[in-house]
Amino acid sequence: MFTHKRADFGQDFIFGAATASYQIEGGQTDGRGSSIWDTFSATPGNVRDGDTGRVACDHYNRWPEDLDLLADGGFDAYRFSFAWPRLIPEGTGAANPKGIDFYDRLIDGMLERGLKPFATLYHWDLPSALQDRGGWMNRDIAAWFADYAVLVNSRFGDRLAATATINEPWCVAYLSHMLGIHAPGYRDIRAAARVSHNVLLTHGTAIAALRAEGAKNLGIVCNFESAQPASDSPEDREAGRLWDGVFNRWYLDGLFKGRYPDDVLAQFGPHMPQAYTDDMAVVSAPLDWFGINYYSRSLWAHDPRRSAFPLRQVEGPLEKTAIGWEIYPQGLEDILTRISDDYTKLPLYVTENGMAEVEGTDDPRRVAYYDAHLGSVLAARQRGADVRGYFGWSLLDNFEWAEGYDKRFGLVHVDYQTQKRTPKTSYRAFQTLLTGANNPR
Ligand code: NOJ
Repeated sequence: MFTHKRADFGQDFIFGAATASYQIEGGQTDGRGSSIWDTFSATPGNVRDGDTGRVACDHYNRWPEDLDLLADGGFDAYRFSFAWPRLIPEGTGAANPKGIDFYDRLIDGMLERGLKPFATLYHWDLPSALQDRGGWMNRDIAAWFADYAVLVNSRFGDRLAATATINEPWCVAYLSHMLGIHAPGYRDIRAAARVSHNVLLTHGTAIAALRAEGAKNLGIVCNFESAQPASDSPEDREAGRLWDGVFNRWYLDGLFKGRYPDDVLAQFGPHMPQAYTDDMAVVSAPLDWFGINYYSRSLWAHDPRRSAFPLRQVEGPLEKTAIGWEIYPQGLEDILTRISDDYTKLPLYVTENGMAEVEGTDDPRRVAYYDAHLGSVLAARQRGADVRGYFGWSLLDNFEWAEGYDKRFGLVHVDYQTQKRTPKTSYRAFQTLLTGANNPR
């Protein structure tokens, strides 16, 4: 069980759990269009064991049971994402009535159970038809996405507690277009430079379009990592700093200062889109809240063999999760405090935090992981960060992208043969924190 009490977090603090459409829904039916994750995972070599999201957790059919799990756990909120190709199968143009019905039922189901809907518009399932037109590399995506955002707002906006434009822009840009690990799997510095800008331009363009419609409580969700040098040498210190630029500062400086960091710009060099500086006022449009996903730290060494981004990751000594990420709760306190001190006084939400563990329902390491990271949230609040909520990743074991189903992040175990859900010890720890007799608000 956790060492913290609910009252430690204050009356209005929101506890939730998070998921994403492609990772849990399945339901590739009823007019849903193809997404880049359908094609990427169908291509051999891209996903461990050839896994795909075709069925996933069958949440498309089992959502009432999943919402019951959130309600029974005592959670206040559910962070979920809309699948763009379910709502607009070709990415632009006609909406899919059955897709709209699905999210109508899902959102009404949350409200009936007293769960606040925290929506994400884009959690990586780009319509394939838009990839055919260049996807994130095409600047037109800002307009395509704004139209989609306006559709979502017109159908569901009045029932959403909060809306995030994009989940983890670093993954959309660098992981997917520079490292090629996620769909669409590009390894191309020009693509990466363009998408690093287009993803934030798209976010800002959607914010403006949503504001014009009167939409409320708008934000974005970024992922941050504690980037550290592998040694004390000046070269490695420089490498740690550059990774902090690539992963953290690009997004923080862009969103909150309206400029990109010089060290990263120097690496992208001539590959940045022309006249991108003209867009920076749009990129840095004011927000209502800011979402932070945090999992781990990473260590970096200088690597002179690379002409651009001359660094390589070095394995660290700390205890690791089942996906190999070091457990480093201090990093969450640090990033929350840094954001509050150096970037913004907006309300902050930890929109994802959690760990991969081996299969099973007794997960004491995960309980300890959550307990330590909840402690970091409290410490950051003590240090002045206005953290208003915390979402565990994830409600369910699910499709962990390039890692397939092998890596399990759920508070609830999923048996993929039978689709049976079984709460884990970590779920019970949250349930006790949130509903236990000793834990009033
Ligand atoms: C961040 C992503 O938003 C989510 O989709 C993913 O499963 C978790 N991190 C764990 O890697």
